[in-house]
Amino acid sequence: MQDSGVKASNLVWHEGYVQGEDFEARNGHRGAVVWFTGLSGSGKSTIAREVEWKLHEAGKRCYALDGDNIRHGLNKDLGFSPEDRVENIRRIGEVAKLFHETGTIVLTAFISPYRADRDIARNLLPAGSFFEVFVDCPVDECISRDPKGLYKKALDGVIPNFTGVSAPYEAPEAPTLTLPTAELDLGQCVDNVVAMLRNQNII
Ligand code: ADX
Repeated sequence: MQDSGVKASNLVWHEGYVQGEDFEARNGHRGAVVWFTGLSGSGKSTIAREVEWKLHEAGKRCYALDGDNIRHGLNKDLGFSPEDRVENIRRIGEVAKLFHETGTIVLTAFISPYRADRDIARNLLPAGSFFEVFVDCPVDECISRDPKGLYKKALDGVIPNFTGVSAPYEAPEAPTLTLPTAELDLGQCVDNVVAMLRNQNII
């Protein structure tokens, strides 16, 4: 149903005729939101893309939402101030919810540095359909990987408010799954995510 805090008035909520279970029956599996969180360069997008590919190959309906990409479109008006990050994650949570309503397995890859915002996204979804995956990589390892050259710029003071350098990251307290990407290779991470989806009776 609708949230409180809605600006417009005179709105009427319309239920569709096709229900969530109808979408799930057609897909042959339950919908879910797999919410990857971790520092820039920790491996979130790479893992999400690989999981998406593997699930797609197995005939599952899935879709990856990626931080850098979404910031080119839907969230092109947002930067990296604390308020903009809150709004970024709020919108992604709502988009993930919409995809979930179609029975899709949604794979989100955003730093999502604030615990409270991840909890808001979780609470938009039915119990048992939101899985937080902590892509756990020490900041020193992310700095040495620096795939986009952004840590160097952040450490040189060229990029302000950079997560892990000059802006906070709040690690999950009870993630469904933790992927220590400095220790596991990509294939192991992907297998662990797929196994999690099996254990949670999503696929
Ligand atoms: S979030 O904090 O709002 O969740 P999001 O995942 O959308 O971030 O975007 C993070 C990506 O934006 C990083 O992987 C990096 O490529 C880029 N980026 C640019 N500036 C910053 C910054 N100040 N802090 C973190 N990431 C940044």
